[in-house]
Amino acid sequence: RALLRRLWKGDASVRMLHPRLQKAMGAYLRANKHGVNFRGRRAAGRSRAELLCALRGRVRVRTLDGSEPPFSALGWRALVPAVPLGRLLPHGLRTCAVVTSAGAILNSSLGEEIDSHDAVLRFNSAPTRGYEKDVGNKTTVRMINSQILTNPRHHFTDSSLYKDVILVAWDPAPYSANLHLWYKKPDYNLFTPYVQHRQRNPNQPFYILHPKFIWQLWDIIQENTKEKIQPNPPSSGFLGILLMMSLCGEVHVYEYIPSVRQTDLCHYHEPYYDAACTLGAYHPLLYEKLLVQRLNTGAQGDLHRKGKVVLPGLRAVRC
Ligand code: C5P
Repeated sequence: RALLRRLWKGDASVRMLHPRLQKAMGAYLRANKHGVNFRGRRAAGRSRAELLCALRGRVRVRTLDGSEPPFSALGWRALVPAVPLGRLLPHGLRTCAVVTSAGAILNSSLGEEIDSHDAVLRFNSAPTRGYEKDVGNKTTVRMINSQILTNPRHHFTDSSLYKDVILVAWDPAPYSANLHLWYKKPDYNLFTPYVQHRQRNPNQPFYILHPKFIWQLWDIIQENTKEKIQPNPPSSGFLGILLMMSLCGEVHVYEYIPSVRQTDLCHYHEPYYDAACTLGAYHPLLYEKLLVQRLNTGAQGDLHRKGKVVLPGLRAVRC
């Protein structure tokens, strides 16, 4: 509870986490498995307006467009959707919802509010059926990690979760964003199922995030954090939030910064308990959340009761 209150105020620290989580974080820092070599300058202490301005100036949503090797030689220019992700949704999207999969959304009765948005982004295998009252049933975009595409448990090719939506997939690439190295050794091989899915479902918009976009967001989190953050990609949650901030007039994020309903229940749809889901071990999740807290323009009451944060779309930001 103390940590939760500090998170709402934006002054939580890793030192408040369970020693087990701190230990896991330390191990990731030492392993540096993606070869992170941060060259940016720390700019801690930026105001909300300065932060937004920095985001607007820097954040460029990028997906693989098949123009770079090795993908160019593999015919990916004709394989990827003809319309870029940035131009797929109408420019008039007023408000968008980002719905995390956190257990704390159970019993929230937020479904109706979530569905009232012009577009809704959900993550990975998070279902709506059976949970409509709390999470709604509209899905416009589904952001999926490479394990969804490769682990048979998720039935990527036949599950209805991945049909009739815009799909955006990602996989941790080297920090250098060397596409050859990544193609040879992805974390999970998403390339083969991606090609197959594109060939079988050419009309479904389906994109892979460019590693440069992912690590650019990581750099921004590190720049604005005093402590050394985990040298691993931001969580799907953070990627989805920044994607929607680039596409929408305003973004309402549900149960990313946890509400009073917070427990160790990892996901609303499965009985698995682990504080790392909410606070991070592999992902720099606590730092992501502290950054998002600084950007919040919503009411404190909405944060506590709904776990809701309101963020301006980047197009609307005036610098
Ligand atoms: O676990 P999964 O990655 O599928 O969840 C989607 C996103 O929701 C996470 O990347 C994370 O940003 C957010 N999340 C959270 N707290 C949880 C579970 C998920 O903030 N307990």
